[in-house]
Amino acid sequence: MKTALKLLVLLLVPALAGLLWLAWPDLREAPVEQSRAAPAGAAQIERGAYLARAGNCVACHTQAGQAPYAGGRPIGTPFGEVFSTNLTPDPETGLGSWTPGEFWRAMHHGRSRDGRLLYPAFPYTSYTRVSRQDSDAIFAYLQSLAPVQAPRREPALRFPYNTQFALRAWRALYFRPGEYRQDTQRTPEWNRGAYLVEGLGHCNACHTARNALGGIELDRNYGGGPIPSLGWEAPPLAPAGLMSDAQAAEMVELLQAGTSRHGVATGPMAEVVLHSLQHLQTTDLAAMVSYIRSLPPAAGAPAPRRPRVSEARRQELMRQGETVYREHCADCHGDRGQGRDYVYPALAGNRMLTGASAGNAIRSVLMGGYGPSTATHPQPHGMPSFAQRLTPEEIAAVLTYARGSWGNQATAVSPVEVERR
Ligand code: HEC
Ligand code: HEC
Ligand code: HEC
Repeated sequence: MKTALKLLVLLLVPALAGLLWLAWPDLREAPVEQSRAAPAGAAQIERGAYLARAGNCVACHTQAGQAPYAGGRPIGTPFGEVFSTNLTPDPETGLGSWTPGEFWRAMHHGRSRDGRLLYPAFPYTSYTRVSRQDSDAIFAYLQSLAPVQAPRREPALRFPYNTQFALRAWRALYFRPGEYRQDTQRTPEWNRGAYLVEGLGHCNACHTARNALGGIELDRNYGGGPIPSLGWEAPPLAPAGLMSDAQAAEMVELLQAGTSRHGVATGPMAEVVLHSLQHLQTTDLAAMVSYIRSLPPAAGAPAPRRPRVSEARRQELMRQGETVYREHCADCHGDRGQGRDYVYPALAGNRMLTGASAGNAIRSVLMGGYGPSTATHPQPHGMPSFAQRLTPEEIAAVLTYARGSWGNQATAVSPVEVERR
């Protein structure tokens, strides 16, 4: 009898603890109030439009060629695809019959109107920091859009990731709902920046490496890492060491214009500037940078495993690369990698070029690209694609050279890495 009781306790206690753990993120969820929105004023709608820009809602919630905010865009994850939803006020397929309380619950707790847990491809791990007042303003703005009928598309995720149980476990591990709390030791500017970066900006959705379960590990926060679904790597958000005032001013410039004296926003970052950051007030961007420059250095993703290049081979690639560089790159990027101010990015001291992995740089040379077209820089210059003009060996050589010259001290690039891209 006694042993049976013991056994029961032994089984029950972990089971109860497990259930408590799974329910943990939901314990702080207040019951959702059902009151309808008071009619929104023009000022609230305008503020909501601005905040929706800061959250870049339109980028994910718009399918190419379709009405803005009508959803249906596939968002890739390592576990399959999730589709964004219709945020227009269509009563059947959009948010038309939602209350502000239900909208807040989605933003703050990651829970849909019908109680379903939402997939964190919707970055509510960040949006949970948004204040109720700002959530209401975004809702008022979305309700002011023209309704579009666009039914929900079922996620296409592999088992077991498509279950509510898996979501529960994921949330218990990686989701802590909670509004942003002011740090009274810091300036109002810093707090505003922290609120935007940690909340609507969801910068760590890309600038922090994710683990095998797609969780953001906060001890690596802003340390940079690969974005598997996009095939790009995000650099660490704050450069290692102190950021000078000049560097901070240049970062504001980059976020606003997409092009700065020495740099260009490319790939996924170009889209963030295009749809979101260029529309923000300079004071808000400066606040974001004042927060970013205060971030402690964080360990990035574990260094990717890359083919080893012997020292003799590296020397050979350096020599070959110098020739390729003079012939194909120096006209734009300068004979010492200095670039041309506001036109061609500098390669000397370029963090995107000199990261632990050479993935972004290989991608740039193979595919070419453009910075975003912004109000400040409507016609950014382009980088030609070299996929047809240079062999993998030549690309590896020129990148080995650029990563190892003019003060850059990054490792060599092997032709095998270029071929794998
Ligand atoms: C990185 C892409 C991404 C961004 C940015 C994004 N969303 Fe979403 N959102 C999604 C996806 C994907 C879903 C569907 C999740 C699911 O099906 O579980 C979703 C779902 C939602 C839902 C739940 C709808 C429902 O029917 O349950 C709301 C509300 C929402 N998003 C609002 C917003 C707002 C407001 C913003 C901007 C502040 C925003 N989203 C930005 C990807 C995004
Ligand atoms: C969709 C993914 C994504 C999001 C979201 C994102 N970034 Fe980026 N970011 C990148 C990638 C990829 C790069 C590297 C390409 C480049 O340098 O343009 C980058 C580069 C940058 C750079 C340039 C770094 C350097 O040294 O050249 C800055 C600054 C930056 N991001 C700031 C931000 C801020 C601030 C936010 C939040 C408002 C943000 N990013 C959100 C993907 C993202
Ligand atoms: C016609 C001018 C031009 C030539 C030639 C050129 N580039 Fe570029 N390059 C650019 C521009 C403009 C950008 C910024 C646009 C972008 O990254 O999408 C850029 C971006 C880059 C980047 C990404 C840097 C960053 O911060 O985003 C790398 C790496 C690069 N170039 C390397 C090279 C190499 C190596 C060569 C020679 C094989 C080369 N480029 C030839 C104009 C050029």
